[in-house]
Amino acid sequence: MSPSRRTLISTAVAALALSTIATLPALAQGLPKLKVGLMLPYTGTYAALGNAIENGFRLHVAEQGGKLGGREVEYVKVDDESDPSKATDNVNKLVKRDNVDVLIGSVHSGVAMAMAKVAKDTGTVLIVPNAGADAVTGAMCAPNIFRSSFSNWQPGYAMGEVVAKKGHKKVVTITWKYAAGDESVKGFKESFEKGGGTVVKELNLPFPNVEFQALLTEIAAAKPDAVFTFFAGGGAVKFVKDYAAAGLKKTIPLYGSGFLTDGTLEAQGADANGLFTALHYADSLNTPRDNAFRLAYAKTYKLQPDVYAVQGYDAAQMLGIGMAAVKGDISKKAEFSAAVEKAKIDSPRGAFTLSKAHNPVQDFYLRQVGDKENKLVSIASKALADPARGCKM
Ligand code: PHB
Repeated sequence: MSPSRRTLISTAVAALALSTIATLPALAQGLPKLKVGLMLPYTGTYAALGNAIENGFRLHVAEQGGKLGGREVEYVKVDDESDPSKATDNVNKLVKRDNVDVLIGSVHSGVAMAMAKVAKDTGTVLIVPNAGADAVTGAMCAPNIFRSSFSNWQPGYAMGEVVAKKGHKKVVTITWKYAAGDESVKGFKESFEKGGGTVVKELNLPFPNVEFQALLTEIAAAKPDAVFTFFAGGGAVKFVKDYAAAGLKKTIPLYGSGFLTDGTLEAQGADANGLFTALHYADSLNTPRDNAFRLAYAKTYKLQPDVYAVQGYDAAQMLGIGMAAVKGDISKKAEFSAAVEKAKIDSPRGAFTLSKAHNPVQDFYLRQVGDKENKLVSIASKALADPARGCKM
């Protein structure tokens, strides 16, 4: 090659490199921040759950350098107080006043159903990082609605199989009277009765009441072989303590969906020891993925993570996968959804995929409380998929 031609080429290459360097920051600056609307409970019986979800979400975003799909993440927060009567107003404020690009929420099933309705009507992407309302990935399912957590049916169904296999025949259930309680019990009953057991009594109290005494007296009188329960957060702490204080722990085994003992063990102390629950997470999975997550979480927040932290972290992972596929342009709804739908999400709980209705297909672990941990006992139900009843998608 002649010297003049070589000079020409190298000058052209240098010019190209220079122009690339020059346009890159300009491009990055050109992308507006991604407005993430966090609608979670920061007060009330589920306050700790809301905080853990936010912590988990922020941890993943921080691990990505504060950006998803090339856009810096900015948060707009609303305390939904786990109050369904305020939920429609709260979510409309986020979508219409604050113009968020995506909705993340919530913990309470009733609140999440109001969010799903607005998401469906406005086309805003919604990722539910906890609330199990079966309808969210059932009758209300939509291309822009995703869940990083579970359906209420799932842990109930997994536990029903375990309790039937343990040989218990007659069970009393006790829970809060709203979607999460009702649907957990329904899932439990479906598999427990298939396994030969009978639910002899279904006890309830309104959410978020914690006056359990009269109901515990009824349990003592009914003398069932076992009790199945759904409670979570502050209510779960009080229920486990009251169950033991009433002397029932020694005579009638208590089983629950795993929320009963997740994020609650410090406060429940010895009263939780030995309890069996089923959930899509445990404290002693001891996989490299979970160990790395637990270390990063503990370092960042000086707290141990729980299932809620994992669900928040995975909501951010799912959003990140969609955002990367559309290169930051979340208005490309079909491409965003397709990417999340086909993803294998590398969760600390174990990798999972989504069902057609956008609910995690995942393993449910049987756990037992010991040393202030939900220790892994076995896999209660492998790759359990919610039946997505009523979803037409
Ligand atoms: C719900 O309302 O769906 C719910 C709340 C707290 C939990 C689990 C489910 O821990």
